[in-house]
Amino acid sequence: MTEYTHSPKIICLTGPRAAGKTTVAKQLADELGYLHIWLDGINGQVCEQLGIELAQVNLHTAENQKAYADIFRDILKGNRYQNIVFEGERIRFPYILHTFLNNAMNYYGEYAVIKGFSLSPDRETHYKYYKLREIQRMKKYIKDNAHRSPEERKGDNLAREFDLNTMPDPEGFEVVESPEAIMEWARANAETHHPSLPREYAEVIKKVADSETYTPFYQTIEVDGKRIISGMTRSDRSWKNVSMLGVDFSGKRVVDLGSMHGYFSFKVEECGAAEIIGLELNPSSVSVAEYLAGVRDSVAEFRICDVNKDPLPECDIMMAMNMLHWVKDLEGFVTAMGEVSKELVMEIGETQIKRIVSVLKPLGFSMRKTVKSHRPDKFIGQRYLFHFVKK
Ligand SMILES: C[S@@+](CC[C@H](N)C(=O)[O-])C[C@H]1O[C@@H](n2cnc3c(N)ncnc32)[C@H](O)[C@@H]1O
Repeated sequence: MTEYTHSPKIICLTGPRAAGKTTVAKQLADELGYLHIWLDGINGQVCEQLGIELAQVNLHTAENQKAYADIFRDILKGNRYQNIVFEGERIRFPYILHTFLNNAMNYYGEYAVIKGFSLSPDRETHYKYYKLREIQRMKKYIKDNAHRSPEERKGDNLAREFDLNTMPDPEGFEVVESPEAIMEWARANAETHHPSLPREYAEVIKKVADSETYTPFYQTIEVDGKRIISGMTRSDRSWKNVSMLGVDFSGKRVVDLGSMHGYFSFKVEECGAAEIIGLELNPSSVSVAEYLAGVRDSVAEFRICDVNKDPLPECDIMMAMNMLHWVKDLEGFVTAMGEVSKELVMEIGETQIKRIVSVLKPLGFSMRKTVKSHRPDKFIGQRYLFHFVKK
């Protein structure tokens, strides 16, 4: 992972075939160290994975979207926070662009600077590029098929039509005639920050971004009552749902399981909890949570802990927000939770509900309230929030 500097740049570059997109993307890589993400190569990977023809990627199907999303996620997660030029004609397909941008937001954060260009040279220049490209393509075809008979070499004379434009450019993309305009933008914006970056919290944002977690921007981050990172899962919305459960946290000892960067620990503190313990497996998340506790002047304590092995501390309220799918023995673990606490606040998937209720009932818990979560999930079903209280 490249050390985070405000704000990584992401150039999305489209334009008609043979406009010079790949050439300028390579120049960005050579001269300014951009990572070149070549969509044509990814299209090929998707076709191979799904066993489909190239034209079929133009259709927005769930399978296509998932295949692109998986590839984009691995590239973006693996290369964050290098500047990126994402380049290809099919960026004009809205589902491909949106899938890419969603992943960019999740793995680069909301303060990345994203710029769209459509490279559309004047007709004469474009025709020249196009001719050159076709000659190269046909030479390659002839070389690759030299062992075949002339009857089999159907592609020898297959020059494609000079087609200037097939699809509209995505909204907000700047249309430029020359690659130099793109290079100029990249040079001029090398040090640019996102216009919404709250400068006074730049250090905090960097600390979160550099967290060695799978997704540093997973949780919302709030400091001084201001939301400085919205987070990919919008924990602030989860907190609204928790609030609707009507739990009284004041004066209570609360344990937050899988506390990550401490969002929910800090919220229960704001609601008057007297003692808060966040338990988290990832040491890097614990270190970020401790840092945020310092910035927020919080009394919350964060401990490195593997809830699958370590004993759970006694408490009034135990919270398990979207983390029970990490435990190995769901029934055994929920039993342990019920034994050490008087109230439980959980965000769980619908496939887990029956199993959890069947364990909690015999322990004397009853369900006080449930609220539908804003976060669905493809593995554990729609999520719900629950408040259970021991009689
Ligand atoms: C899906 S995230 C949810 C984070 C947070 N509860 C929220 O809802 O925003 C799950 C968290 O649980 C942590 N975790 C996973 N396995 C764990 C374990 N065995 N013990 C403690 N924490 C664990 C992960 O590191 C991660 O931070």
